[in-house]
Amino acid sequence: MALLALPFPTISGLPLPLFVLFIPFLFIGIVLSATHLYTTLRYRLSLRYYTSAPTRPTKAAPPPQIPYTIPFIGNAYSLLASPPGVFWKQLFRWHPRATGACTLLLGGRPTHFIYSPHTVQALLKARGPTRDSLNVDIARKCLGVARRDVRLYHGFGEPADAATGLTPIQQLEKMNHEFLLRSERVNELTAEFTRVLAELVAAEPCSEQGVGLCAWLATTMFRASTEAFMGRAVLEMVEGFAEDFWEFDRGFMNMLYGLPSWFMPKSYQARARLLDGMEKWHVMLRDKTKGIPDPNGGVGWDPLFGSRANRAKQQYFEARGLSLRGRAGLDLGFIFGLSSNAIPAAGWMLMHILNPEGDKTLLRRVMEEVKTAKRKDGTVDISTLVSLPLLQSVFHEILRLYVDVWVTRELKDDLVLPLDDEKKQAFFKKSGIIVAPSSLGHLDEARWLDPPSDVFCAERFLRKHPETGKTVFTLDGTTGKFYPFGGGKSICPGRVFAKQEVLGSVAMLLLAFEFEVVGFVDEQGKSRNCFPTIRNTFSGAGVMPTDGDIKVKMRRRDIKI
Ligand code: HEM
Repeated sequence: MALLALPFPTISGLPLPLFVLFIPFLFIGIVLSATHLYTTLRYRLSLRYYTSAPTRPTKAAPPPQIPYTIPFIGNAYSLLASPPGVFWKQLFRWHPRATGACTLLLGGRPTHFIYSPHTVQALLKARGPTRDSLNVDIARKCLGVARRDVRLYHGFGEPADAATGLTPIQQLEKMNHEFLLRSERVNELTAEFTRVLAELVAAEPCSEQGVGLCAWLATTMFRASTEAFMGRAVLEMVEGFAEDFWEFDRGFMNMLYGLPSWFMPKSYQARARLLDGMEKWHVMLRDKTKGIPDPNGGVGWDPLFGSRANRAKQQYFEARGLSLRGRAGLDLGFIFGLSSNAIPAAGWMLMHILNPEGDKTLLRRVMEEVKTAKRKDGTVDISTLVSLPLLQSVFHEILRLYVDVWVTRELKDDLVLPLDDEKKQAFFKKSGIIVAPSSLGHLDEARWLDPPSDVFCAERFLRKHPETGKTVFTLDGTTGKFYPFGGGKSICPGRVFAKQEVLGSVAMLLLAFEFEVVGFVDEQGKSRNCFPTIRNTFSGAGVMPTDGDIKVKMRRRDIKI
């Protein structure tokens, strides 16, 4: 007792029962202070390596670990509880950004974050690191896929299959390559997508009341892309597909971080309804069809099975013996990849083009460009469209401003990455996790200067060609600081289709309708006086959702699409 009494004379004067009650708080206080002191000292010592200026290559050192106060939880609370971007802004007020990398303790797991373009570029090029553990987490926590199905789907560590000569991972990569990336396949998909979108555009009643533009896109584009990929039958069998999908999408990151269902019951209920409906679709396909039509055959699109890409995926599920519930979960994951980025990207793009408070000449200039892609029959020539300089610049500016993705890799071996011009290097231990948050490159104030990084600039990716004097679109000089689709062998396999889908939708809608902006609304549809911004939600999922919408009246132009 005397030992305790010495440093805490006021406490020792308390009656014994109160004093005993106080002991746990005292203990917690000591643990928190000791943790803070120890992690701060460790940080200060490790920073020496990062703040010295070597003239020749030095031995690689682990990234400095940011101090924290609560053991196990570490930096998780401040990272996840802050609105998107705020944690990093506050961190870089006292932690030198020039370190290029740092480590945060997230729920007991040290996780390395990198933000030097050299380091990001080298990580994306490295062959060893994989997305495997993130893919497993997404399948289990977000898509509700059973452990057995996840194991069968990925087949990690399995040898090559005798029939194909490929491991399961290689089969998946080959499938993506053949059905999502080969130009004739992508063009076929885009043609299917634009066919459905044109039907929906033709049927649009153009209400005089006005509609929320992003809300309208969330239904219309969702319908067109799902039908193009998965066929029509699934949309008929899953009631309320689009509404439930967006409710599920809203809770996706919470599910990934393991937040319980009572925290966001609506998202979990929506997911359950989607999985039930999609499982029913699989039962119908199994009972009523004679197998899956050949993805390489003469039929490009089938109402029951949809695209070649989907048929190839279903054949893989069948060959791997996945349960029907597991197939439904993995299909939902694919629909998430398909819809949850491209549709909000089209929404942000149209909102900026139509923004009455933005550049008043932008709509006219975009219209002049997209009209050059209009064929005589009124349809849009996608290959012309995707090479238009201003339209491409606006699309990439939207991805720069609004993609917030954590490109995540797990290390199978120790890894050394350059931090700057290769004089300094960071060391990462085997089985560690490295995250490259896109927003740290995309919004870096020191690298996107004129206009500042947080300002939308339609012409940001345009340059005068030195020889021809023509205005051209370019991504030169953006390596390692602009990576909306990730990179390396895990780069988004849907990126070519995404560009065609977004630019195709924007052009078709601008050519079909004259939009009159009535005003801005919040998420509840209540009128407000500012342009929508990013919803206050977890970072990391991809194109960030809006916290509102612009209300528009659509009037049909006299042009056939
Ligand atoms: C603007 C639209 C899109 C953006 C910004 C985007 C972004 C990304 C990113 C950052 C990744 C992770 C890459 C990495 O770890 O290096 C990814 C993965 C993926 N994306 Fe996309 N994506 C978009 C559209 C699409 C579309 C339209 C599809 C489907 C056609 C798609 C399908 C996928 C799939 C299946 C994966 C997982 C790949 C794997 O695990 O290996 N994405 N996407």
